Amino acid sequence: MMSTDILHRHLLKFLLLSAFSFFIGTVHGALQVMPPIRAWLDSIGSPYGGPGHMIDPLAHAHMNLVGGVVLLAMGVTFYLLPIFTGKKIYSIRLVDHTFWWVSMGVYSFYIIQMVFGIWEGLLMHSAPEQISAAHRFYGPVMAISGSTMLVGFCTYLANVLLTITASSKADISA
Ligand code: HEM
Ligand code: HEM
Repeated sequence: MMSTDILHRHLLKFLLLSAFSFFIGTVHGALQVMPPIRAWLDSIGSPYGGPGHMIDPLAHAHMNLVGGVVLLAMGVTFYLLPIFTGKKIYSIRLVDHTFWWVSMGVYSFYIIQMVFGIWEGLLMHSAPEQISAAHRFYGPVMAISGSTMLVGFCTYLANVLLTITASSKADISA
């Protein structure tokens, strides 16, 4: 009973950040269909390419899908696994790692896509020759952000597999 309470306390933040991410993602969605914003996004290549592609769909899609859907799915999985398997989650410390790596990853992903999308979008209309100079930072920062998310997905898979395959011993001390 006690260990279930501890687990639930650790899972609350997944639900909270998922709800917040859906809020950000849907406000973003509503903004990007407003005619003046839509016209600007279209003028910078959205949704097919160019700087606009980073704002719509990339930033929007990942905020909703990773921030909203994936965090919710992970929280629910950690809640259901003990019920389905009769075992404790292998490591609550690893649950926290998953949360922080995925959250840091997806929020940095969103900020990077928005900053580069708006920056390069403005340059496209004012000084297009400067776009490639701005874009040279994009690859390295995205690689860090994407890898951060990936670490979270890996710790998630590891914890799920270890919970299913482990004997019922579990780390509930975190
Ligand atoms: C108020 C709510 C929302 C609005 C107004 C909205 C609006 C939009 C718009 C205008 C596009 C771009 C379409 C295009 O330019 O091709 C788009 C793309 C997308 N949206 Fe939303 N959206 C909303 C909520 C959501 C939610 C809740 C999710 C996911 C759970 C989502 C996932 C996506 C995805 C994955 C794409 C990219 C689709 C593709 O790759 O072609 N959206 N949305
Ligand atoms: C480590 C995690 C992830 C990374 C690093 C990542 C990165 C990317 C990148 C770089 C693109 C752009 C490809 C392009 O140039 O057009 C992309 C597209 C996309 N990703 Fe992810 N992604 C991740 C996870 C996910 C997850 C978990 C989902 C869904 C639940 C998702 C949904 C999408 C969708 C729908 C698109 C297409 C958007 C469009 O262009 O219409 N991604 N992703």
